[in-house]
Amino acid sequence: MSSGEIAIQADSLSREFYPHQGFFRKGEPIVAVDNVDLEITSGTIYGLLGPNGAGKTTTIKMLATLLVPTSGRASVAGYDVATREYDVRQRLGVLLGGDRGLYGKISAVDNLRFFATLYGVPRDKVEHRVQELLNLTGLAHRQTERVEGFSRGMKQRVHLAKALIHDPEVVILDEPTIGLDPDAAVQLRAVVHSLVPEKTVLLTTHYLQEADELCDRIAIIDGGRIIAEDSPEGIKRLVGSGTALQITVRGCPGELTLEAIRMCSGVRAVCATSGADQSRTVIEITGDGDCLSEWAVPILIADGFPVLEVHHQGVSLEQAFLSLTGSGEHGIAGVPA
Ligand SMILES: Nc1ncnc2c1ncn2[C@@H]1O[C@H](COP(=O)(O)OP(=O)(O)OP(=O)(O)O)[C@@H](O)[C@H]1O
Ligand SMILES: [Mg+2]
Repeated sequence: MSSGEIAIQADSLSREFYPHQGFFRKGEPIVAVDNVDLEITSGTIYGLLGPNGAGKTTTIKMLATLLVPTSGRASVAGYDVATREYDVRQRLGVLLGGDRGLYGKISAVDNLRFFATLYGVPRDKVEHRVQELLNLTGLAHRQTERVEGFSRGMKQRVHLAKALIHDPEVVILDEPTIGLDPDAAVQLRAVVHSLVPEKTVLLTTHYLQEADELCDRIAIIDGGRIIAEDSPEGIKRLVGSGTALQITVRGCPGELTLEAIRMCSGVRAVCATSGADQSRTVIEITGDGDCLSEWAVPILIADGFPVLEVHHQGVSLEQAFLSLTGSGEHGIAGVPA
């Protein structure tokens, strides 16, 4: 598949789940994915972001032929996920992470040899491919150890190597850096970055800095629907003309004060983070126009919270996310940085 073609496409893709009580369906279905349209150009990294339960994993599982859509269509590398499962699987590598999917009692190298054979890598190429991936993921020096003894970060690297074992042209990664320490996350991001433009990558993440760094385009999904889709810069622009304000105050403003700021003209989202001893609080305000501080500062002072510092900055992807998904409405950063 050459660069510029569409590697992943979804048209009105939907999936419902019925709540069960025992063996029986009970109540109305939950719409986990609601008419999602996607068009991902080959050779790019595409990020799917959204709060917990937004529908990211469900979308990915449908694209990976692991879940049947309730309605709509999708294709990967030009093959329909419902009717050409085998062709899709040959061209697609998937990392779903977690503790499942690897054999703990055997070594990393034997796991990869096994999956290489399973995925049809020619016998004379298996060893070369396995060693190449062990080097790429930084596991070469621990390859003979049993996977059950690996740390979470190391297991995640084996998962990534496994996803790449058959040299797929499209790679889907569900929260690839979850639980990794900062060093390991940086290394894994570098590996992901090195996959393009030869491959196409679709990833989900809660780390908005990661999406900002890695992704060419981002879709924000909330309640099963795509609510924004653009480049990281475009997503930030959607939220306003680059206006974001950070006000540090003494003390810990309550919900009434934050609500008063939220009601001010032009304010889109307010989120407050207090220190452990609540002696000072950083309030982040995102919105339109240049006069946010003219409204917010007097409110804070009037409510008895001395202002220590006011800092204007460009909108971060995190602030854009909070503003678009409404996760900042309760004054608490709902997304890990
Ligand atoms: N097998 C299932 N049975 C019933 N409901 C499900 C099932 N899988 C997912 N759901 C529901 O579908 C919705 C979307 O879940 P999904 O796992 O896709 O979210 P997510 O965006 O990946 O969230 P997270 O960030 O927490 O991983 C949730 O309401 C979830 O409870
Ligand atoms: Mg998920």
